[in-house]
Amino acid sequence: MAPMAVVALILVPPPSLSLHPSQGVSVGDTVTLRCHLPRLAAWVRLYRNENPNYIKQKDKVQDMTEFSLNGIKKEHAVSYQCRYKGLKPAGTSQKSDPVELLVTDHSYPPPSISLSSEERVEMRTNVTIQCWNEMYAVTIFLHKDGHSAPIQHQEPNAGGTATFTLCEVSAADSGTYRCSYRVRGCCLLLSPLGNNVTLEVIPNPTPPGDDGGPSRNLVAAVMGGCAAAIVIVIVLTVSLLLIDQRRRMQRDERPGGEGANWL
Ligand SMILES: *[C@@H]1O[C@H](CO)[C@@H](O)[C@H](O)[C@H]1NC(C)=O
Ligand SMILES: *[C@@H]1O[C@H](CO)[C@@H](O)[C@H](O)[C@H]1NC(C)=O
Repeated sequence: MAPMAVVALILVPPPSLSLHPSQGVSVGDTVTLRCHLPRLAAWVRLYRNENPNYIKQKDKVQDMTEFSLNGIKKEHAVSYQCRYKGLKPAGTSQKSDPVELLVTDHSYPPPSISLSSEERVEMRTNVTIQCWNEMYAVTIFLHKDGHSAPIQHQEPNAGGTATFTLCEVSAADSGTYRCSYRVRGCCLLLSPLGNNVTLEVIPNPTPPGDDGGPSRNLVAAVMGGCAAAIVIVIVLTVSLLLIDQRRRMQRDERPGGEGANWL
């Protein structure tokens, strides 16, 4: 990097861009892009998809400015960047890191889903969930209810099927799963979420002669708890004995004997 560029980077560090909401935007919605600046700016500009021409500008900005995109269309599902012109020190920043606006388009069919196993499985079973859409899917996402972002993603095979494995499941894998996919084509379009499958992971019965596992831990925890209780009882008994002894000594020193007040 040329020395001048390094100086500009130090004096006018790049801004950062964030999306609100960052998930679950559909065609027709409004989203807000926030450009966060480290200093006062003469202007802030918003850029779409690495295009050198900006699409929006705000003047005289301190700290942060918002750009609102109303009535999102398919072609707005691209990446965005912002940059600013600093006032003091003067200089134009680099563009921020790009953020991707993923847009759900309900005109695409949701993917199908199937679970390899029964809905109730024992701990440490390997479970697979398959999702497919032959026509449009370029990446398939596996979502779990309660998580805002997909938990896995995969490129489908030639038949349009992705196979997600949940390895050696534990109780934490219980829940409701669904898929969506990224649509083939220009933009960052997503299909709607498909039907759900639910998984319930049940604890294994402990085989006899096994090295214990969770049940032995439970015994250890109970014993640990008992040991702690015994220590507390001993400490309490000793303190009471000491207090009692001190009270007796005070009474002996002051025959008037109002020593019980402080207890
Ligand atoms: C589950 O998969 C892992 C590797 O993916 C394998 O090592 C393990 O043996 C499998 N467990 C069962 C019960 O099939
Ligand atoms: C999952 O789908 C079934 C029907 O396919 C539906 O009855 C159930 O309410 C759904 N569960 C959730 C959590 O959405």
